[in-house]
Amino acid sequence: MELLTTKNRFSRLFILLAVVLMSTACYKDNEEDLYPDNGCNTENVSFAQTVWPVINNNCVSCHSGPGASGGIRLGNYNEVVATIDGGRFLGAIKHENGFSAMPQGGSKLSDCNISQIDAWIAQGKLNN
Ligand code: HEC
Repeated sequence: MELLTTKNRFSRLFILLAVVLMSTACYKDNEEDLYPDNGCNTENVSFAQTVWPVINNNCVSCHSGPGASGGIRLGNYNEVVATIDGGRFLGAIKHENGFSAMPQGGSKLSDCNISQIDAWIAQGKLNN
């Protein structure tokens, strides 16, 4: 009798555990569908929500206004697009040979931020 009760308790615990694990698995599946690249969402990247905050936090302090470093202005959407079209932007943030590594004196942008900027460019550099 005593053994049976313990067994019942164990099976209840097991079922509970199974349910918890299954729901976690479902949650993870969904997340991977939404963000295929290791939790980095590169689908429908928005300028205002994603690209601008990265540039504003990492680049604008040096690259805006009349005294902008290297004559490169990144103070708004039009200036960002013009700099990208000028061909020096991606090489600089990816630290490629032949480009000055940006942000100067700071750490490289995260791989996720760089792929989001790549994706935004591939999606047409929309002012969205
Ligand atoms: C601390 C100041 C500073 C910050 C922050 C900074 N830059 Fe620069 N940047 C400079 C200076 C100074 C130059 C010009 C001299 C040079 O090329 O090294 C420059 C040059 C550049 C160039 C031209 C590079 C080339 O090789 O022709 C680009 C593009 C650029 N920056 C983009 C960015 C971007 C994008 C960010 C943010 C991710 C950024 N910068 C952050 C100071 C900065």
